[in-house]
Amino acid sequence: MPRISLQKVTMRFGDIYAVRDIDLVIKDGEYLTILGPSGCGKTSLIKVISGLWTPSEGRVLIDGEDVTDVPIEDRQVGYVFQNIALFPHMKVAKNVSFGPRMQGKTTEEGQETADRFLKLVNMLDRLNMFPGELSGGEQQKVAIARAMASGARLLLLDEPLSALDARVRMDLRYEIRRLVKELGITVIHVTHDQDEAMSVSDRIVVMRNGSIVESDSPMRLYRRPNNLFTAYFIGETNLLEGMVADKDDRNILIKLRDGTDIKVGGNRHFNINDAIVLSVRPEYVYPAKEGLSAKVVQVIYMGSYWRVVTRAKSEDIVEYNIPKHHEPPNIGQGLELVFNRKMSMVYKRPKEGIAEAVRLE
Ligand SMILES: Nc1ncnc2c1ncn2[C@@H]1O[C@H](COP(=O)(O)OP(=O)(O)OP(=O)(O)O)[C@@H](O)[C@H]1O
Ligand SMILES: [Mg+2]
Repeated sequence: MPRISLQKVTMRFGDIYAVRDIDLVIKDGEYLTILGPSGCGKTSLIKVISGLWTPSEGRVLIDGEDVTDVPIEDRQVGYVFQNIALFPHMKVAKNVSFGPRMQGKTTEEGQETADRFLKLVNMLDRLNMFPGELSGGEQQKVAIARAMASGARLLLLDEPLSALDARVRMDLRYEIRRLVKELGITVIHVTHDQDEAMSVSDRIVVMRNGSIVESDSPMRLYRRPNNLFTAYFIGETNLLEGMVADKDDRNILIKLRDGTDIKVGGNRHFNINDAIVLSVRPEYVYPAKEGLSAKVVQVIYMGSYWRVVTRAKSEDIVEYNIPKHHEPPNIGQGLELVFNRKMSMVYKRPKEGIAEAVRLE
């Protein structure tokens, strides 16, 4: 059963660091997602884990054994590449039964395994087609079936669902999770889709610029991100600059840019006069009698709720949600907003400014 350990892994191309100094342990049977913006090093990291690339520095251990220099073919991994790589000259049936056949199964057994996984991705009726005769999304589904049918205990999925329709993508992500949990497989799933990461993972690793920003369960990352970048990148959030005006042993008092005072729970490690950024998700902002004065600039129908976009005197944009059966406010209407005290997160204001600190390069 694979437990993977990365120790100070760096992958460098000349001056470019694709991945820098990564320490990470992936538990046996864990469904781990690597989430981050384009170019942050996700594919590079997965290539190092697979054995396709030898890292410039650092070690890769599988079950305690140093496999840094072991090539991919000797690592027992199922790999769905970001750019689909089916064997173009083999029909779907043969592509998927290739793994089991290589492990010494008979043609019949191999085909049985292939059928099982093709059925799962709804491609059983395409057995006799060549990859070139399938759409991009269909090829991706066959590639997933093939990786699973290989019998590998470690599955590496690099953006496996990106070419699929939203509906199929959702169905398939739950199917994959259900199946790998049933089989006890360890999964490392690369994506830049935060909803996908939230809904399938035991744990999410947030990456940026070749490094790990933080890693935790989806719930903890959403509710209590340690890092401003995570707060911004996972889910939606309002970011407001301010400073610490006062504190006691339970709360801190924040003065926002327009002079409004906001009381926030916890965050005792801040000191008076610290420059901070307040992060509060739209679902924790409510209209009230007295709070931050703002004007409604836009109302958006989201299907299951309304999104109200407001602008404060400081020009800060604050968004909040109201239930779909409520009457939304009018554009131009003035209102007062308060924030859920427990669900407001406070971060040290980054020296480079908020925009730079959350930039998705
Ligand atoms: N073979 C290579 N030679 C030189 N630079 C590379 C090579 N492969 C990747 N890089 C660089 O390493 C960085 C990380 O690339 P990588 O493909 O790992 O990003 P990613 O997070 O997978 O992005 P995406 O979401 O767009 O797939 C990029 O700046 C990229 O240009
Ligand atoms: Mg990639």
